[in-house]
Amino acid sequence: MSVLSPAIPGPAALRRGTGRAHGKVVLLGEHAVVHGAPAIALPVHELGVDAEAQETRGAGTLDSVLYRGPLDAAPERLQPTVAAVRSTLRHHDAADLRLSLRIRSAIPPERGLGSSAAVAAATIDAVLRMLGADADDEGARHELIQAAERVAHGTPSGLDARTVVSASPLWFQRGRVEPVDVGAPFAFVVADTGTPSSTREAVTAVHAQRDEKPQRVDRIVELLGDLATGARDDLDRGDLPGLGARMDDAHALLRQLTVSSPELDRLVQGARGAGALGAKLTGGGRGGCVVALATDADAAAELAARLRRSGATAAWVTTAEPPASRATAGSSPESIQSREGTA
Ligand code: MEV
Repeated sequence: MSVLSPAIPGPAALRRGTGRAHGKVVLLGEHAVVHGAPAIALPVHELGVDAEAQETRGAGTLDSVLYRGPLDAAPERLQPTVAAVRSTLRHHDAADLRLSLRIRSAIPPERGLGSSAAVAAATIDAVLRMLGADADDEGARHELIQAAERVAHGTPSGLDARTVVSASPLWFQRGRVEPVDVGAPFAFVVADTGTPSSTREAVTAVHAQRDEKPQRVDRIVELLGDLATGARDDLDRGDLPGLGARMDDAHALLRQLTVSSPELDRLVQGARGAGALGAKLTGGGRGGCVVALATDADAAAELAARLRRSGATAAWVTTAEPPASRATAGSSPESIQSREGTA
């Protein structure tokens, strides 16, 4: 006769989930996009965020480079992450569930590189997977990222939320996204001034200017939108000089919106002096990063090194490539549809 005792139900296994997202640069159309103009943004796969959510029987915790401790006591700057956790749990009728969240991000925060949206996206995916919920429901996931972005920035256009989870460059206008065709390899350098950028502040300042001088600001918005439209053709045709010139023009217009800074202007000038085909601030501005177009991948590596030597606190190379080059480019980042290049 068996002496095995009947199975006593143990505590339910604690669930776990992971999520990943990446940084972004706005190639053309930041700020104008908030006012309805189109914009183009590129994923920056080199700057990744990993999140891990683990159900716990104890108190909920958060472990990140910026803070380690109870989720309930997280500092102000991590409130978007806390909001991402809470709204995802609520959305799945699991508001009372407790979890430990671990985040590791290579995206420097407050540099206009999409850190807040990427951390929110990775967190939301980790929590959804922990819950066994559908992380592939793009619409629901986007709404959750946007809810966290509203805590971070107030009135986000949605451009960051879309790009940090996109494999390829995006065209974005009034909430709608389309993939962008890329006809030749484009190599960009993203260089950091080392000074923080507050997207919320910069966006609020542009709103205030628009209230004061609507015609002037609307005209700048329209011109930035035209540059984004032209840039889409440049990418499609593989027209590097054309895109570079538009990036230069966009920087001049963004200066008129007062969202540049002496540090950004210096890096833009430095990039042009070092052979970039064009350069501009990227993201919210008033600090943060510039994006510069190099003639090719080798020139981009050299440009990044020169910018680091001349004061950039960090510089990364990222590319947009036709699918054929992508297939042979190993770990190279993204893009898109091939057409004949003219550059
Ligand atoms: C931030 O990456 C881009 C801005 O246009 C703000 C937004 O689109 O929400 C400045």
